[in-house]
Amino acid sequence: MLSPPEPAQPWPGPAAGHDLDLVVIGDCNPDVLVLGDDVTPVFGQREKLVDRISLEIGGSAAITAVAAARLGLKVALIAAVGNDPAGTFMLDQLTREGVDVRTVLVRDGAPTGMTVALSRGGDRAILTALGAIASLAPGDVPHDTLARARHVHVSSYFLLADSLGPGLAAILSAARAAGATTSLDTNWDPAGRWRDERLSAAIAQAGLLLPNEAEALALSGAASLDAAVSALIGSGPALAVKLGERGALCAAGPVLYRVSLPPVTPVDTTGAGDCFNAGLIAGLLRGLPLPRAAALGCAVGALSTGALGGTAGAPGLPAATEVAEHAAIRTVRPDRSGIEKRPRVP
Ligand SMILES: Nc1ncnc2c1ncn2[C@@H]1O[C@H](COP(=O)(O)OP(=O)(O)OP(=O)(O)O)[C@@H](O)[C@H]1O
Ligand SMILES: [Mg+2]
Repeated sequence: MLSPPEPAQPWPGPAAGHDLDLVVIGDCNPDVLVLGDDVTPVFGQREKLVDRISLEIGGSAAITAVAAARLGLKVALIAAVGNDPAGTFMLDQLTREGVDVRTVLVRDGAPTGMTVALSRGGDRAILTALGAIASLAPGDVPHDTLARARHVHVSSYFLLADSLGPGLAAILSAARAAGATTSLDTNWDPAGRWRDERLSAAIAQAGLLLPNEAEALALSGAASLDAAVSALIGSGPALAVKLGERGALCAAGPVLYRVSLPPVTPVDTTGAGDCFNAGLIAGLLRGLPLPRAAALGCAVGALSTGALGGTAGAPGLPAATEVAEHAAIRTVRPDRSGIEKRPRVP
């Protein structure tokens, strides 16, 4: 495979003396996955048989936390669930995976959030009830937990925009002041708002922004990926854009890196982006330069698609490292003809 280039700029080294590798803040809910060739519901009280319905660990933050724990990181999750069986399921599963859930709040007044994903071939239709997810407020994020973290990652900004949004920039700022590196994956905005002042303030405090391609375009308001990358980097953070089977694009300065692996035929792509985030963060915490860390992210993302649900396929570090060694890493110079068109292979 291609020899990896030098990093655009070194990632700051991990803070010493922090006993948690990673604190993840965000959404925590079960996913109900419905699988079959024909999963389209028919109203009129018609019952339809499907191939399989499966209850899985869901929520972008929870999936990232589990994937990071599989990679050997010491992880705590800050989220909110309801005082109900769905919440108990999540707490039990996370605990079994080694994630510290003592900072997951259990609400009496709201049900645990839940997602139903109807999955047909490579496509999905997703229904989510937020429930307790949207109750997580800035005051629920303990600063002493932030101060114990080498890295703080925030998932699913838009699901928490009204509750956590007003305090998120200050939370990220406090984490940085306490010595942690930070990252933000907004995921999709179901309300289609995409840009607001609170989010801009949070992005300015995030060391690393982790959108997929569609989210990068929507967040920046740009018409092309190269314009989106320029705009997002200009707003402050380093960037890794997830490109599905095409891998990822990352930048921590003027030089862009395209990272790719041979595409795999997925069993289920749920959570691939969350697993990518875990791999990338684990790589950075191990001192890898951003492109190599992104290669580890691509490996974890690709391997995660090999099993049903967000976490079943999430690999351990040896398997992920072995796959990442096969990554192609190319430098790409942005220009007006488009970032994909004029790669310079080192
Ligand atoms: N079919 C595939 N083959 C190889 N790698 C893949 C495939 N699908 C996903 N990946 C890897 O997983 C990463 C994340 O996937 P994707 O781009 O779908 O993220 P996402 O859209 O944020 O997903 P999510 O639905 O979890 O939010 C990709 O950047 C890529 O490295
Ligand atoms: Mg995503």
